[in-house]
Amino acid sequence: MDIDNVFKNNESWIKEKLAIEPDYFEKLGKGQTPELLYIGCSDSRVTAEDLMGLGPGEVFVHRNIANMVVGTDSNCMSVVNYAVTHLKVDHVLVCGHYACGGVKAAMESADLGVLNGWLRNIRDVYRMHKDELNAIECEEKKYDRLVELNVKEQCVNLIKTAAVQKAYRERGLKVHGWVFDVHTGKLIDLKIDFDKYLKDIMEIYHLD
Ligand code: CO
Repeated sequence: MDIDNVFKNNESWIKEKLAIEPDYFEKLGKGQTPELLYIGCSDSRVTAEDLMGLGPGEVFVHRNIANMVVGTDSNCMSVVNYAVTHLKVDHVLVCGHYACGGVKAAMESADLGVLNGWLRNIRDVYRMHKDELNAIECEEKKYDRLVELNVKEQCVNLIKTAAVQKAYRERGLKVHGWVFDVHTGKLIDLKIDFDKYLKDIMEIYHLD
């Protein structure tokens, strides 16, 4: 790829925006009030704003390998805290995707060096749902199911944070679990029963 093209693309993009709205960047420069926090995979095929048809200023984004919400990851925890407590987003979306390389790597036996610690969090999800996953004979289906269960567990991890618990009680913040199907482009709502999960885990994780 000729990296100069990126700058050419940027010039065209500016022209397109200004043609529709002459004060577009003036408005954008004033600040942000996104209503959504999106936590997704770093995979280049899963594009956050683009797949949701949203533009600049509409969604606060955090991406990492396999869309993980790890309580000891100060990067992710800072994003969640800032978006929920300060930007006061109304919805937090965890978006996994089929054919996720991170999830695949966690299903295989290989020493991947510095990645081991990160992938261990996904292996933990496998262990928690070992009975269900081991009962699935088709490897492809098992892989898809682990992608879904991983999204669910990351939603649970979000509910364990004080920021989310407080925002839920104060203004009815919602956590959603989604999967993007890279084979069709479809965004699938896993319809996670947020209230049920919250009730279940609050017994142990209640903070605020
Ligand atoms: Co991925």
